[in-house]
Amino acid sequence: MSEALRLGIAGLGTVGGGTLSLLKAHGPEIAARAGCAVTVSAVSARDRRKDRGIDLSGVTWADDPLALASDPAVDVVVELIGGSEGIARQLCERALANGKHVVTANKALIAHHGADLAAAAEKAGVVLAFEAAVAGGIPVIKVLREGLAANAIGRVYGILNGTCNYILTEMRDTGRDFDEVLSEAQRAGYAEADPSFDVDGIDAAHKLAILASLAFGTRVDFSSVHVEGIRHISPVDLAFARELGYGIKLLGIATRTKNGVEQRVHPCMVPADAPINHVDGVFNAVVAEGDFVGRVQLEGRGAGAGPTASAVVADVIDIARGNRVAAFARPAPELAPARPVPMAEHPGSYYLRFEVVDRPGVFAGIAQILSTHNVSMESILQRARMPGEPVPVVMTTHDTREADIMGAAEAIAGLDAVVMAPRIIRIETL
Ligand SMILES: NC(=O)c1ccc[n+]([C@@H]2O[C@H](COP(=O)([O-])OP(=O)(O)OC[C@H]3O[C@@H](n4cnc5c(N)ncnc54)[C@H](OP(=O)(O)O)[C@@H]3O)[C@@H](O)[C@H]2O)c1
Repeated sequence: MSEALRLGIAGLGTVGGGTLSLLKAHGPEIAARAGCAVTVSAVSARDRRKDRGIDLSGVTWADDPLALASDPAVDVVVELIGGSEGIARQLCERALANGKHVVTANKALIAHHGADLAAAAEKAGVVLAFEAAVAGGIPVIKVLREGLAANAIGRVYGILNGTCNYILTEMRDTGRDFDEVLSEAQRAGYAEADPSFDVDGIDAAHKLAILASLAFGTRVDFSSVHVEGIRHISPVDLAFARELGYGIKLLGIATRTKNGVEQRVHPCMVPADAPINHVDGVFNAVVAEGDFVGRVQLEGRGAGAGPTASAVVADVIDIARGNRVAAFARPAPELAPARPVPMAEHPGSYYLRFEVVDRPGVFAGIAQILSTHNVSMESILQRARMPGEPVPVVMTTHDTREADIMGAAEAIAGLDAVVMAPRIIRIETL
């Protein structure tokens, strides 16, 4: 067996702590698979006195994580701090420049700077690996980069945020509203104190941008992702969706089209019998559609100490084995510039829910607006009402263009009789 591979781990929180536990639990097995022992020579976190329940005797403590980037006793810097800028970015850039491999779980960093970091890694002849950054324990990066390398991928999509999936599942199953379920998720540790990155779709967008780059060979292009979260989804929508034969999931969807790449994260109505509709709770799933392989779906835990540690240590084992694969499946200079397709061009069908005071001529007015905007209605549900009370209206459309449906929704919202403007959910064919 050759010399040990020595890690410097920056960040000892959920992922860092899990990584140390896993290395300890499976040391001999990892060494056997890696072909050498994997040791931790240095660590860094903010608070040295914090009791982490981990034995760090014999391990160098660095008050400044950047020290790991120049520590001669570190072969691989494992960045588990987080954030797209600041210390995490500096640490990775410096480590690569100093010829050290970098393993990170940091999706924000890779979504914003992935292509440049990959180029820096190639220049230095070292590895940049980020399996844990997308869908936690699901080895989707490796699958796209290696297992499906022979395919042209047409579409990649998935449930990329466990917090949102948990909230939507609970709302569906209990009929409770978003705020109530979010508070419960925070108490249970499934949602952060500041949940905005998760519930507003940003976390999923970071992951989608990374998947799109791997799938389509383009530079990571986070700024072009159309992003909507789940705050506006109500239990009423989930109930109507069920009635119409759908579930509601927050999906990230990246599609290669003849005009470029479309990337979007938003709540979707998915057919009740679609496999992804059965991925519930905190679970994540990723589906890749390749021209030769067909449809591949992976499912598993997208967050938490164990699943993320599993992905981090898998990257470390790859490095120890001497596997050298370009971070984004092709050399960084060959990544094509992203050619984003504007969301306004998106074709699809839509669900609209709004409330009107039912008086003569209202529905004729709505029909006129739809026709003016080239929107053709597929179905309409209208509930009984007490005279003079607003009535909820639910419509689904045939295929139309995003710009057209948005124009129609705005015009409907402007009608005197409309007391709640249309809420819109896109219907997906999966
Ligand atoms: N949690 C998950 O399930 C999950 C899943 C996939 C990916 N990730 C990614 O993994 C990374 C880490 O997430 P996490 O959940 O483990 O975060 P976390 O629990 O908040 O831990 C962050 C760690 O970084 C340390 N840290 C923060 N600022 C620092 C600084 N300036 N200098 C040195 N150390 C610093 C903290 O030190 P102290 O402990 O002393 O405060 C802590 O140990 C993030 O990029 C996240 O997006 C997380």
